[in-house]
Amino acid sequence: MEKVIISPSILSADFMNLESEIQEVRKAGAEWLHIDVMDGHFVPNITIGVPVVKSIRQKSDMFLDTHLMIENPIGYIEPFANAGSDLITFHLEVCKNKSEVLDTISEIRKFGKKVGISIKPNTEAKEIFPYLNDIDLCLVMTVEPGFGGQEFMHDCAMKIPEIKKNSNSNLIIQVDGGINNLTAKICTALGADSLVAGSYIYHSNNYSLMIENLLNNRREL
Ligand code: DX5
Ligand code: ZN
Repeated sequence: MEKVIISPSILSADFMNLESEIQEVRKAGAEWLHIDVMDGHFVPNITIGVPVVKSIRQKSDMFLDTHLMIENPIGYIEPFANAGSDLITFHLEVCKNKSEVLDTISEIRKFGKKVGISIKPNTEAKEIFPYLNDIDLCLVMTVEPGFGGQEFMHDCAMKIPEIKKNSNSNLIIQVDGGINNLTAKICTALGADSLVAGSYIYHSNNYSLMIENLLNNRREL
């Protein structure tokens, strides 16, 4: 089995020290960085925008995994692509119909970026099946999007094998919300390829150990 991709979410990082917070997870072996973009409409919170992605890109070689929890994502693809996002994930729920989903996918491809689609806890796995061959990553939310530090919703994780069964082997299945050493094991056993973790890493005092735990290489203490 290939190594699971860990994507630390900077939502739980100390923004006053963002540069070192990013360097620390990079040194700990993480190659992806998860950036949660919220607009106060699709979700009841406002977080990070284009200028922050641009600043991170200037200082970091990490793969910038950009999770757009915003309405009208198509209007924001170009600025995020130009700012340096490598992967742009939008929510299926913000699209009114199939053609809007396909247009958003094409817009991301136009800028040569990887494409992700995310589904919220109440969206059934089958809703995303029609798009699985057109995207690089499917993000299964295991909390209601909006905030870090929430509890993992076990039922949502059951979508992982359903999606796996209906996709080709190149699709990356990512899980986001409530990931810790225990829930990571559940998700990887169910077939997840990538784990987003915010508070589990950034609210600890040993980022390397937390990342190792997520990779199942738990050190004996
Ligand atoms: C929630 C965000 C997550 C969040 C995860 O809406 O999409 O990426 O940072 O935080 P934890 O890992 O603390 O649940
Ligand atoms: Zn996220």
